[in-house]
Amino acid sequence: MSANRRCAVVTGAGRGIGLVTARVLCERGFAVAVNDADAESAHRAAADLCKAGHTAIAARGDVTRKAEVEAMIDSAERELGPLWLLVNNAGSYHSDPIEEFPEEAWDHEFAVDVKAVFLCSQKALKGMIERKGGRIVVMSSIAGEIVRTRQIAYCAAKAAAIHFARCAAVEVAPHGITVNCVCPGMTDSAMLRKSAAGRGKGLEAYEEMIPAGRLALPEDHASTIAWLASDEARHVTGQVISVDGAQSLYHPLTRQG
Ligand SMILES: NC(=O)c1ccc[n+]([C@@H]2O[C@H](COP(=O)([O-])OP(=O)(O)OC[C@H]3O[C@@H](n4cnc5c(N)ncnc54)[C@H](O)[C@@H]3O)[C@@H](O)[C@H]2O)c1
Repeated sequence: MSANRRCAVVTGAGRGIGLVTARVLCERGFAVAVNDADAESAHRAAADLCKAGHTAIAARGDVTRKAEVEAMIDSAERELGPLWLLVNNAGSYHSDPIEEFPEEAWDHEFAVDVKAVFLCSQKALKGMIERKGGRIVVMSSIAGEIVRTRQIAYCAAKAAAIHFARCAAVEVAPHGITVNCVCPGMTDSAMLRKSAAGRGKGLEAYEEMIPAGRLALPEDHASTIAWLASDEARHVTGQVISVDGAQSLYHPLTRQG
């Protein structure tokens, strides 16, 4: 099915940044397993990619559950060949003031944004270490580096994901495997629209905090991931790359004086 194509698994690729990443990777010649906990969106995304002439399969699975992660990556490798690229993209976001933040939301965010990254990477690495090659990308967020209020679990979990990537990169570098972290700034996506609506804002309110003058697009992240997966980036590992139009460098004093 995927002769001469490298196999990639993109988690949480039924919509948003993951969906666009799956498409861009297909356009660069990858055979892509579209993972999502939501079976319908995974199937729809894979079917659309196949209709466009690409090689893709749906790989449903909740990435917070070890057994589902193992079955999902096994099925991707059975159908598309040895895994070259894992994109840990699935994410979860909850907003509340710290004093009211529900314990269940804290546990859920750490499960999706950190534990799932560990489970998927651990499973992927078993084969990659044997084959002495592969790429792992962790989708964190600039929220893992800067401070945002009402997002205590998201910020803490995304910071943990960043350090996971650095630690894993050093540990697996001798096996010819790279692990890097992409930190999107505010991106025009379902997740951001929901968060903006919760704060009673439109997306325009965010643009003035972005020196480049616009929100990121899912394509900005997808092309960074595709580069990290390419031969050109073979010596780039343990890096944290913000794709944010310099948003993470913005400060209220930036435009004074
Ligand atoms: N959108 C932004 O502004 C923004 C900014 C910074 C970082 N990010 C990060 O980028 C990534 C993608 O964001 P997005 O905006 O496309 O999100 P999204 O909410 O639009 O899509 C996330 C997808 O992940 C899937 N998912 C959630 N939990 C899952 C699980 N346990 N198992 C499998 N799939 C699961 C969802 O079903 C959904 O399809 C996330 O890690 C997010 O934290 C997004």
